[in-house]
Amino acid sequence: MDLLSIDSLGDAEIADILDRAEMYFTGNRGRRGTERLHGRIVFNVFYENSTRTAMSFATAAHRLGASAISLSVERSSVAKGETLEDTARTLNAMRPDALVIRHRENGAPAAVAMIMDAPVINAGDGTNEHPTQALLDAATIRRRLGRIEGLKIAICGDIRHSRVARSNALLLPRLGAEVRLAGPPELMPDGVPPISIDEAIAGADVVMMLRVQRERLEDELGDAPGEYLARYGLTSQRLATASPEAVVMHPGPMNRGVEIEDRIADDPERSLITLQVEMGVAVRMACLELLIGS
Ligand code: NCD
Repeated sequence: MDLLSIDSLGDAEIADILDRAEMYFTGNRGRRGTERLHGRIVFNVFYENSTRTAMSFATAAHRLGASAISLSVERSSVAKGETLEDTARTLNAMRPDALVIRHRENGAPAAVAMIMDAPVINAGDGTNEHPTQALLDAATIRRRLGRIEGLKIAICGDIRHSRVARSNALLLPRLGAEVRLAGPPELMPDGVPPISIDEAIAGADVVMMLRVQRERLEDELGDAPGEYLARYGLTSQRLATASPEAVVMHPGPMNRGVEIEDRIADDPERSLITLQVEMGVAVRMACLELLIGS
């Protein structure tokens, strides 16, 4: 079994991952590891930059007693022109127990999964999906608000380029939430009914902000300093229109002062941003155990 997209998971598997993650979250706070995957080897292959996802997969593997080995792609034979498929055949011949891959092209993890015998986990492919991020977001919301069913969740910013938004838009409604996607018109995907940031945030229980992915933009936004925050960012004024108990999320990395005001990002009561990171380790432990342990 691979973990390539949200739709590749059944409802029972999603419930199982969220429940196991909750258990590991509690254990991790006491630094309690297990040896459930003792002696197993997880390959981490990141063709795009990563801090949270790469480090949390490695930490998750170690907390389960497995070893994580990372390929530094920029120093690998990829730089000598080796194709993705040949790299996959090479890695497969070493018989890892799982392979975690991030790649700038949509569908690259699926192509690698055709070659690998071991389970492949998509850690983000282009603008397509980032399923473990959506799972950790769901686990974080459930931990803090006790449920997902019936919540209004605003996801705001660069929706067009966001694999996080895409995976969340597939996952959260399956768990009973209402998802509202909003962003600048030029950063909305085709076919998504446009609503304004203000409409999305009004009355929301969760406000998830996204980074403008300038590295994926074909044309510069051409916004003046401060303009994005004023027009589309999460300011205290906008947050005041959300539900009084509303929490704030961001998958990171943040562009402070662009999509989110500093003091909201650092608000110890409402910001779940570091809780998301902590939950990320637990969710990735749950995913590795589900895929390798079975
Ligand atoms: C995101 C990603 O890489 O898709 N980050 C993450 O994994 N937490 C979002 C982004 O790059 O803005």
